[in-house]
Amino acid sequence: MAAVTALPVSLSARFKGSFAYFTVKDRLPQILTKAIDTLHRHKNEFFEEHGEKGVEAEKRAISFLSKLRNELQTDKPVTPLEDELPDAALWNQYLDYQRNLLNGNGEPSWFQSPWLFVECYMYRRIHAALAQNPPIGSFDVFKEGKAQNFFESQEAIIALCTYFQELLKNIKDLDEKQLQGELFKLLQVSLWGNKCDLSFSAGEKSSQKSSPLQCLEDMVPYIIVNDMEKLWSLLINAKTRNTDKCTVRVDVILDNAGFELVSDLVLTDFLLSSKLADEVHFHGKSIPWYVSDTTKNDFNWTIKQLQSANHMWMSRCGINWEGNLKKGVWVYQDHMFWTLPHIYSSMAEVAPDLYADLQKSNLLLFKGDLNYRKLTGDRKWEYTVPFHQALNKFHPAPLCSLRTLKSDTQVGLKPGQGEQIQASEPEWMISGKYGVVQFDATP
Ligand code: F6P
Ligand code: MG
Repeated sequence: MAAVTALPVSLSARFKGSFAYFTVKDRLPQILTKAIDTLHRHKNEFFEEHGEKGVEAEKRAISFLSKLRNELQTDKPVTPLEDELPDAALWNQYLDYQRNLLNGNGEPSWFQSPWLFVECYMYRRIHAALAQNPPIGSFDVFKEGKAQNFFESQEAIIALCTYFQELLKNIKDLDEKQLQGELFKLLQVSLWGNKCDLSFSAGEKSSQKSSPLQCLEDMVPYIIVNDMEKLWSLLINAKTRNTDKCTVRVDVILDNAGFELVSDLVLTDFLLSSKLADEVHFHGKSIPWYVSDTTKNDFNWTIKQLQSANHMWMSRCGINWEGNLKKGVWVYQDHMFWTLPHIYSSMAEVAPDLYADLQKSNLLLFKGDLNYRKLTGDRKWEYTVPFHQALNKFHPAPLCSLRTLKSDTQVGLKPGQGEQIQASEPEWMISGKYGVVQFDATP
C-alpha cells in the first residue's frame, strides 16, 4: 500500500459541509432509494420471467438494499463483504487496511472513512444485493437511466454522427493544421460529454440536448487546464515516427454510457480514421457502477442502437463501429480493478496484469470525474500541486484526463487561478461547468 504520511488528507464526509458530506448524507441514500423503486417497478417482469422465485429474489434484494441504506444513514461501521464474488477478498483486505489506519481508534464507517472508499463500497454492495439473488442476479438497476440518457440525447447524437460522417468524406485531404483542429473539436465534445453523468444528479435526468459542436468556442475559457497541444504533439510524433509500422495504441478508460460514450466512440473513430492511432482499447466496468458508468452490455447495446437507428449517419456509425470490433482494431476490456476502491497509484501492486497491459499503450485517456479522483488519490490537494506529483508514481504510459469538475479536488492550476474562480463562483468545483484536459507524459 502506498505510504500516506506526506500526502494531504483524503476527502471524507467527516468534513461537515463538504461535497463529500453532502453526497454521503443526501445523494447516496437517494440513489439507493431509486434502486429500490426500480426493483419494485420490475416486480411483474420478474414474475413473468421467473415466477414466484423472481418475486422472492426481488424482495430479498430490496431488503438487502434497505438494510444498506440504514447502515449508511446511521453511520454504522463498514462491514466485510460476505459474498463469494471474485473480488470479495480484495475488498476485505482493503477494509482491513482502512481499519489499520485508525490505529485502534474506532472502526471505518460511512461518515468517518474516506469518501472514495465508502462510495465505491456502496456500489459494490448494490451489486451483491442482486448477484446474490438469482434468478435476477444479472439485473442492472441503472440500465433504464442509461438508456433514457441515450434516447434523450438523440438530437445531439444525430448532430455529432452527421458531423463526423461528413468529416470522414474528406479526412484524407486534411492537412496537419486541419487535422489538429478536428481533433481539438472532438476532444472537447468528449470532455463536455462528461457533464451528462447520472450519479452526479442522483439518477435524475441528465442528457445532452443541444448540438454538442455549436458552443465549443464559448466554452474554451472553462477549460482551466488545457493540454490539448501536448496531446496533439504526442499523437503526431507517434504517427510520423511510425515508419517502422509499430502499432500506435490508444486506451480509453471509459466513464458514462449515453451521450458521453457516443462522444468517446466518435473521438476514437477519428483517431483511427485519421491514422493518428491504429488500435483502440476501451476499458469498461465489469459491474454496474456510479449509476451511469459503461458496462459491456451498455457498450454493445449502444452500438446496436446506433446500427438500427432510423437515421443514415447514426446507423453508419454503428455499422462501422461493429466492424472495428470485428476487425480487432477496437477492443473492449474490463478488469475488476476498475471497480475496486483502490486509487490508481496502487494499481501496479494490486493489479500488476492490468498495469503491464496499460504499459503497452501510447496514450491513456481517462474519462470523467471518478477517474480523476482515483488518479489523484481523492485528497485535499493544494490547487497548484503538479499533476505528476498527485499521480504519485502512477505512470504506465503517457496519460490525459478529460474531466468536468464534479468533486472538490483539483491539481495543476496556476498560482491564484483556483482562488480567483472561487471568488466569483463558489460552486466551481462541483457544478460540472469547468473542465480539464490534463496531460502527463513524464515517467
Ligand atoms: O458522487 C461522486 C462522484 O464521483 C462525483 O464526484 C461525480 O459527480 C460522479 O460521482 C461521477 O462522475 P463521473 O461520471 O464524471 O465519474
Ligand atoms: Mg460516471
